[in-house]
Amino acid sequence: MGSVSLKIGDGTARFKRASMCSSAVNFLMLFSVVTTNLFALYAFSYRPTTGDHHKNFSLISEKVSLILREIESSQKKLARMEKELLGYETIDLSRPNIANELREFLNHHQLPLGKDSRTGITEMVASVGHSCEKSVDLLSQFMSYKVNGLCPDDWSLGQKLILQGCEPLPRRRCFAKTIPKVGLQSFPDSLWKNVSEKIYSWSGLGCKNLACLNSKKLNRDCAGCFDIVKGYETQRYIKARSKNDFLIDDVLAMGSGGIRIGFDIDSGSGTFAARMAERNVTVVTATLNVDAPFSEFIAARGLFPLYFSLDHRFPFYDNVFDLVHAANGLDVGGRPEKLEFLMFDIDRVLRAGGLFWLDNFYCSTDDKKRALTRLIERFGYKKLKWVVGEKINGSGKSEVYLSAVLQKPVRV
Ligand SMILES: *[C@@H]1O[C@H](CO)[C@@H](O)[C@H](O)[C@H]1NC(C)=O
Ligand SMILES: *[C@@H]1O[C@H](CO)[C@@H](O)[C@H](O)[C@H]1NC(C)=O
Ligand SMILES: *[C@@H]1O[C@H](CO)[C@@H](O)[C@H](O)[C@H]1NC(C)=O
Ligand SMILES: *[C@@H]1O[C@H](CO)[C@@H](O)[C@H](O)[C@H]1NC(C)=O
Repeated sequence: MGSVSLKIGDGTARFKRASMCSSAVNFLMLFSVVTTNLFALYAFSYRPTTGDHHKNFSLISEKVSLILREIESSQKKLARMEKELLGYETIDLSRPNIANELREFLNHHQLPLGKDSRTGITEMVASVGHSCEKSVDLLSQFMSYKVNGLCPDDWSLGQKLILQGCEPLPRRRCFAKTIPKVGLQSFPDSLWKNVSEKIYSWSGLGCKNLACLNSKKLNRDCAGCFDIVKGYETQRYIKARSKNDFLIDDVLAMGSGGIRIGFDIDSGSGTFAARMAERNVTVVTATLNVDAPFSEFIAARGLFPLYFSLDHRFPFYDNVFDLVHAANGLDVGGRPEKLEFLMFDIDRVLRAGGLFWLDNFYCSTDDKKRALTRLIERFGYKKLKWVVGEKINGSGKSEVYLSAVLQKPVRV
């Protein structure tokens, strides 16, 4: 008696898109079903204690209508949550300031043959990060262009959206600005040759040339890292400056010949991948163009730049890499869980027996070092190398760095 079932939309496929959050919806659904059922049970088993054994029908009908109202409000709440999970549905497409191309891109398209029996999907939804809603004005600006025409020179606007969590970006129907890539060298000469800086896009950047970039410490892993002809960059990974610097050949030897493909997380101008390429190891480098044309520079060296933010799940399948190299790109700031999520994703893409090379990771506080150590130890990796060292920084203060080579265990 009093069983209530709730139907929410038609969105099996759509729930899949947000599997992390779908458990929250499932929980809410379960919660609603349980509470409405309890209500029903209460209403139907309730008897007035007036001593009168007549059922008071008006009382019951009142309770029933209360239950119906409850169900209706749960349904509304669920529909709202579903839309929030979907992300772009929180973008009100009827708003006047929504770019037409954005509306066009986000509109649902019914599958021509109805429900797909294999996947249960009834309609195609365009993929766009749900945080885009927070930046809907920027997003609309990004989607304002002439269809079939040239896109505005606005890559930095796109990157701004990505950094605000609006990932993936919507596709656009305009032609991105092309820059003639003249003077590219052939591989492997390209790894260490200067090319004309005119082949990089400088719009939206503070620096307008390589000399400017090289005069700056762009981040902890890139001080002068665009000088691949004379600078320190030419010695990185083959000459140690401190005991925290491991040599690439030593690390490869620890992999006992099984290192063929690797993933480098955001550590500068591609030099790690370049050194690996010389050793016939293919490395993809994750990088955004924060303050410098990293992606284009890496590509000009004949290396593979992967343009995405570290808040994004790595676009690789489980257990595929022989090696993951990370430096201070791992310092995601914010809550410790953020680093934890990132570490789990690194663990996921690394194969058993593969190596995780943590390279000169800056531990700003002792707490941070301890937390990181605890986190790493929880993964049960074999510590092939583990060095905590101090360096004196530009203003004479001592800073603590952790370098390690860890081997992923086989878990059963
Ligand atoms: C039935 O319930 C209503 C409202 O709760 C009340 O006004 C009415 O007197 C009740 N009748 C009987 C017969 O108990
Ligand atoms: C190579 O680039 C550096 C800046 O990174 C610059 O100072 C130097 O003049 C360039 N050399 C050539 C031959 O273009
Ligand atoms: C890389 O591969 C080439 C071609 O197979 C080979 O000639 C070369 O010796 C290899 N280099 C290293 C460092 O293994
Ligand atoms: C050196 O380290 C201190 C303390 O961590 C910091 O306040 C300062 O900004 C650092 N200086 C440089 C040049 O990195």
